[in-house]
Amino acid sequence: MVDSFEKIPVEIFPSPQEGSVYAANEIAQLIRQKQKENTVCVLGLATGSTPINLYKEMVRLHNEEGLSFKNVITFNLDEYFPIKREEFQSYWSFMHRHLFDHIDIDPKNIHIPNGDLSKDAAKKFCIEYEQMIQDAGGIDLQILGIGNNGHIGFNEPGSSIFSKTRLTNLDNNTRIANAREFQNITKVPRLALTMGISTIMKAKRILLMAWGFKAPVVAKAVEEHVTEQVPASILQQHDNCTFILDELAASELTRFKSPWLTGEIEWTPKMIKRAVVNLALKLDKPVLSLTNHDYNENGLGELLVEEGEAYEINLKVFYLLRDSITGWPGGKPASQLPAHPERSLPYPKRVIIFSPHPDDDIISMGGTFMRLHDQGHEVHVAYQTSGNIAVTDEFVTRFIEFAVGFEGMFNIDNEKSSEILAEAQSFLSTKAPQESDTAEIRAIKGLIRRGEAKATCRYVGLPEGRWHFQNLPFYETGTIEKKPMGEEDIKITMELLRSIKPHQVYCAGDLADPHGTHKVCLDIVFESLKRIKAEGDEWVKDCWMWLYKGAWQEWDIADIEMAIPMSPGQVLKKRHGIFIHQSQKDSVPFQGSDSREFWERAEDRNANTASLYAALGLTRYAAMEAFVRWHY
Ligand code: F6R
Repeated sequence: MVDSFEKIPVEIFPSPQEGSVYAANEIAQLIRQKQKENTVCVLGLATGSTPINLYKEMVRLHNEEGLSFKNVITFNLDEYFPIKREEFQSYWSFMHRHLFDHIDIDPKNIHIPNGDLSKDAAKKFCIEYEQMIQDAGGIDLQILGIGNNGHIGFNEPGSSIFSKTRLTNLDNNTRIANAREFQNITKVPRLALTMGISTIMKAKRILLMAWGFKAPVVAKAVEEHVTEQVPASILQQHDNCTFILDELAASELTRFKSPWLTGEIEWTPKMIKRAVVNLALKLDKPVLSLTNHDYNENGLGELLVEEGEAYEINLKVFYLLRDSITGWPGGKPASQLPAHPERSLPYPKRVIIFSPHPDDDIISMGGTFMRLHDQGHEVHVAYQTSGNIAVTDEFVTRFIEFAVGFEGMFNIDNEKSSEILAEAQSFLSTKAPQESDTAEIRAIKGLIRRGEAKATCRYVGLPEGRWHFQNLPFYETGTIEKKPMGEEDIKITMELLRSIKPHQVYCAGDLADPHGTHKVCLDIVFESLKRIKAEGDEWVKDCWMWLYKGAWQEWDIADIEMAIPMSPGQVLKKRHGIFIHQSQKDSVPFQGSDSREFWERAEDRNANTASLYAALGLTRYAAMEAFVRWHY
């Protein structure tokens, strides 16, 4: 039955790494088969964040398993226009950095659209590019990523099914999403050269890879009708295309979103809640108003057979929703509510809020943070990374000028400090785009964010000593790409956990953070708690873990296990808490594809959760923060 919804075959993996290894193996097999046949293997390649792990694995296969690329010819999908190949952001540089410099491919077999031509010459080049692909025998295997708007290559929504390699406009959303590669949006080229949809469709085999936050567009491309408005949906008409997804990117497919529609399932309380909540939202009815007829008409007849009347099921789900709402995130003291999301005792509790960046605590759970403190718990915040990369050069320049002015005003004659400041000023005035900051500038940027985080803690009311700056080493690369979790990160985190022995820890449960930082931060806490548990510490048996979502998404309403309501006054107080992070206001370097500021996103998200609860027939609050309990 899955087939009737999914019109493109999909392979689903627990993580992007595993999906990438699968794709790399298929490529390796093809290259080896072609070697046996003594012919060339023509690969179509993509850039962007999606294929980075694939290229890593291809390099590993070359280094460790002797995979040769001597018989490989490559054609890249696209390139910005205009751009010089030696620029850091060019796809030419990207491909060499991630793949070509590390394998034995013959440089004359590498083809990447040339972004350094006049417009007329570029148009001629596009015709030649099509010809070169044909002369090579056509593409044997094409790798694709997918844009949030459904683009493949740079074929933006509206691109014709007949389009060929050409000069094209970049969609504004694409420019915003790719601004992370440039200093800011204005530096992102407006044009690009891209293979057309018909060029891509001619490939003999296509693998489209997508991870994490691409879930909504993946579901559209795979399950909805073919439309040029979602270019990837056109791949439904290719007879040898597979989508390689991680579990998150697959999560909006009907088989996961509404599994009762795709076959027989086990009706656990969680599944019943999901089905009923979806039904109520779809029909725009409160849960308690759903009828047998509604269930039958919407593919949930089987649930009635298993569980009885709509009335009974509605009540069960209504109670689950009602019991997830509490104004007492640390548990309600002196009360024994059996279905309360948290225990009343011990009271007060020791709590650690793990905040990947110095502002995730206030942005994502500011209302709960304040309540926990106001209700008498001992709240600590662990700022996991310095967040230094997200401070602009303009912002740090202001602080350096202040420090220089301060020294001058009070005739402070500190040679060392003057030297550092002078060096920092001269570095910033000649800094090239994409050049990594010096260690000193990174430290100053980190200090700025530290000051903002401390100010937020004071604003909430925490006394000195309750904030902990972990400066986890995995983050300190000076670039967007981070190192994987390391032993030192785990050691630092285990020490903090052991020194506080919390009853509750809150973590950012983002498995799909665009830069991976939140995910690594979460893995570090998981691993630390797992080790502490294995080593037999008693306190950890009594430590509950709650996950909030970072700045990008919210939990699915049906999955929420603790919802903390906020009054309009509390919403405003939270907003002012977020405003303290001045280095992150107005425009920040890594905003992702959402142009709203962090406080706006947080408010929209919290108001939306409250409206969904209200739509389901529960009390209407102004806003709500949402958590899922993690059993480790
Ligand atoms: C890259 C390309 C684009 C990307 C897409 C996804 O050569 O043509 O279609 O595949 O924009 O980008 P990431 O992978 O950065 O999310």
